[in-house]
Amino acid sequence: EAPWTAHGLRGAQAQEGGARRQEELQGCPQELLGAKGKRFAKKRYAEKAQMKKTLKMHDESSSRQKVDDDVEEGAIPSYLLDRDPTQRAKVLSNTIKQKRKEKAGKWDVPLPKVRPVAEEEMFKVLRTGKRKTKQWKRMVTKATFVGPGFTRKPPKYERFIRPTGLRFTKAHVTHPELKCTFNLDIISVKKNPNGPMYTSLGVMTRGTIIEVNVSELGLVTPAGKVVWGKYAQVTNNPENDGCINAVLLV
Ligand SMILES: *[C@@H]1O[C@H](CO)[C@@H](O)[C@H](O)[C@H]1NC(C)=O
Repeated sequence: EAPWTAHGLRGAQAQEGGARRQEELQGCPQELLGAKGKRFAKKRYAEKAQMKKTLKMHDESSSRQKVDDDVEEGAIPSYLLDRDPTQRAKVLSNTIKQKRKEKAGKWDVPLPKVRPVAEEEMFKVLRTGKRKTKQWKRMVTKATFVGPGFTRKPPKYERFIRPTGLRFTKAHVTHPELKCTFNLDIISVKKNPNGPMYTSLGVMTRGTIIEVNVSELGLVTPAGKVVWGKYAQVTNNPENDGCINAVLLV
């Protein structure tokens, strides 16, 4: 066999990699060569990276925990004066984790799976004038949220019409621990599970994450600041019920 044939190459590689590599690759189809092999390797690499990430995330961070509580007031040496107590690290890292999760669009939500809504159901085609073809105007048939200073675009440029009758500014938000419901102002639509277009249009369907103004609940952050906005998930079909029910994400 010539050394540049596929079999020859494979033999050489196996020798190079040694026994461990052989062991790892056991059970994978041996005929994965060329582009196929590359694809396999890429997939495997991605899987491994993901696994490592997951393991790391579940790893309890070994940040310092110790706080000297028996030291008297005013006894901090001058070189420590501009440092915060170490316990804050935990809170901060938790906040960062939360932020990361939000960035990835992953929340631990009460309704993890919702029925996807098709475009035909979401929009109604509007025919205007004598135009026979290329109907480009759409009317949103679901509940929407528009900001407080909203003005409609001129008709010529308005592709999506959000009817006033289906615009909402308030939501009935239940606090899962207090078991109380409050009628809160909606601040924004954070994420519609059906896609970013619906998020930016402010469409609220079942499962949508909205931001509500919780100032009247009087919540405070660990740092002592008053919280305005908190996320909540819509749990009903607002277009059917004429109101929005949501559960606060805590
Ligand atoms: C939240 O509500 C309070 C009181 O009703 C108001 O003063 C504040 O401006 C609101 N915040 C936002 C972000 O809408």
